Amino acid sequence: MREAGEKIACLTCYDASFALIEDRAGVDLILVGDSLGMVLHGGTTTTPVTVDQIVYHSRCVAPHLKRAFLVADMPFLSFATLDRALDSAQRMMQEGGAKMVKLEGGREQASIVEYLAVRGVPVCAHLGLQPQFIHKMGAFKVQGREEAAADAMAHDAKVLAEAGADLLLLECVPAALGRRIAEQSPVPVIGIGAGHDVDGQILVLHDILNISPTVRLGRRPRFVKNYMQGAPDIESAIRAYVQEVKGGAYPAPEHCF
Ligand code: KIV
Repeated sequence: MREAGEKIACLTCYDASFALIEDRAGVDLILVGDSLGMVLHGGTTTTPVTVDQIVYHSRCVAPHLKRAFLVADMPFLSFATLDRALDSAQRMMQEGGAKMVKLEGGREQASIVEYLAVRGVPVCAHLGLQPQFIHKMGAFKVQGREEAAADAMAHDAKVLAEAGADLLLLECVPAALGRRIAEQSPVPVIGIGAGHDVDGQILVLHDILNISPTVRLGRRPRFVKNYMQGAPDIESAIRAYVQEVKGGAYPAPEHCF
């Protein structure tokens, strides 16, 4: 899709009913994200999410996808050592039906990415805002605003792709940095709050349906758009998201940093 110049429309999903709808609505990539700890369980962070929970929800989703590509998220500390990373990825692919795993972190995760990649595990490396680091960072905020931080992130992206990552995900970075990383990257770059000039977009399902605790409590992140507004039903809302990603209408300047 990247080579063909077609934007990749990605969305999170955690159950069978939404898997069917998202697949039918044309979502290209579905992520069983550890965001389930916040949107399904009502937590304030993703820290408590376990491998068992990701595997369970992946199993709910996987059988219902005819065309979408399924990615499962490696939760907090599930890839802290090479052995744990391999065990977690094995469970997500063999039990959960995922075709790729996603893990948060920069160049310090390169050895884990390589260890998985050479064993046949496709990996998406998640850079920028890394919600699993919330207790180190103290707050969810835009990353890579300063030149040194932007340079470090661009370098991390290069190192992770060289280590074997097949996909990069960039969360909450200035649009200019999103463009810079996408331009230099040999693999597709998916953004969430990373501007327009990346290869695809991802959002959290419950955010675009305007039902997540975050948006209900009035803490809507800048990059979130309510697709239920004006939509007759959920499938139409998701279809509109896919069309806007493909057509370039989403993200608009007001969704970017
Ligand atoms: O867990 C998740 O849903 C994610 C997305 C926010 C990209 O990582």
